[in-house]
Amino acid sequence: MKDNLQKLKQDILQKLSEVKDGSALRNLEIKTLGRKGELTEMLRKINTLGLEEKKIVGKLANDIKLELAGKFRAAAEVLEGERKNEFIDLTLPGEKTKRGHLHPVTILENELSELFSSLGFSVLSGPELESDYYNFEALNIPADHPARDMQDTFYVARTGAELTRADADGADSNLLLRTHTSPMQVRAMEKYGAPLRVIIPGRCFRSEATDARHEHTFYQLEGLMVDKNISFTDLKGVLEAVVRRLYGAETKLRMRPKFYPFVEPGANFEATCFLCQGRGCRVCKNSGWLEIGGSGMVHPKVLAAGRIDPKAYQGFAFGFGLTRLAMLKYGINDIRLFNSGDLRFLEQF
Ligand code: DAH
Repeated sequence: MKDNLQKLKQDILQKLSEVKDGSALRNLEIKTLGRKGELTEMLRKINTLGLEEKKIVGKLANDIKLELAGKFRAAAEVLEGERKNEFIDLTLPGEKTKRGHLHPVTILENELSELFSSLGFSVLSGPELESDYYNFEALNIPADHPARDMQDTFYVARTGAELTRADADGADSNLLLRTHTSPMQVRAMEKYGAPLRVIIPGRCFRSEATDARHEHTFYQLEGLMVDKNISFTDLKGVLEAVVRRLYGAETKLRMRPKFYPFVEPGANFEATCFLCQGRGCRVCKNSGWLEIGGSGMVHPKVLAAGRIDPKAYQGFAFGFGLTRLAMLKYGINDIRLFNSGDLRFLEQF
């Protein structure tokens, strides 16, 4: 027993001499002098010895324990001293915290929101989870209308509790992810009445087979103006301001008739290609023009759905893809990059 104690002591002293930092020291202390430590276990065995032996071994064990405890304390002091004397160079440059920045679509959205604010438009946002009524019905797209085919989306099943709430609101019970920002036209008219000048940038969804030009999640910007004596020239003036802001003062606007159920007459709008100034190039597929979006005079049925008297008021509306504009502006050839979360892409903006 005595020999074992001496051996254990030497062993512990050896290990102690190898300790290099505070946490290693603490671990060694727990392993040896702690409640379940090696020395402690050995001390427990002393109880099984005879009286005489117990006296001698007990004293030795106690001495060893005290001696070791002292050595541990001394070692701790040395380590602490070393830590205090450690030189910290305060002039070294710190580690840079990574800062995020705005997404390219957000940059464009902010730029356009600023432009429209200066023209007296308010900026609204609307629900991404929309009802069939606002997304289609109120925009003059009835259930059996072929225009629905172009805007297939994701439909959402509802629980009984939600059904009751929606029914009380008078909305219909079919929820879907909005396919465009146009549903906010009717919501804005209902809420604010005429006269009205609003834009609604926001996220939209379609059930698409994705490829470089199609994505299930993308951004649009909707515009709506309702007042007395609003005509097509007002629409054209506003759109001209938009394309000039986007692509420079020399940019020309072209509008051609196009059918959208919620406007009458309806027109697409195009800008001269910013890359070739209308001469024809790869970006505009040699046409000289870039299609930006759709527009038109608000359909009387849509005004009526917004509880505005179509006999007293007129309005114009337009909508375009913010994601698409960002692609054109920054020369991005794959729409899927926007939602990819790929830092190699995002850090370029
Ligand atoms: N909502 C249409 C779409 O997503 C775009 C659009 C066309 C909006 C004509 C309008 C408009 O406000 O007048 O394809």
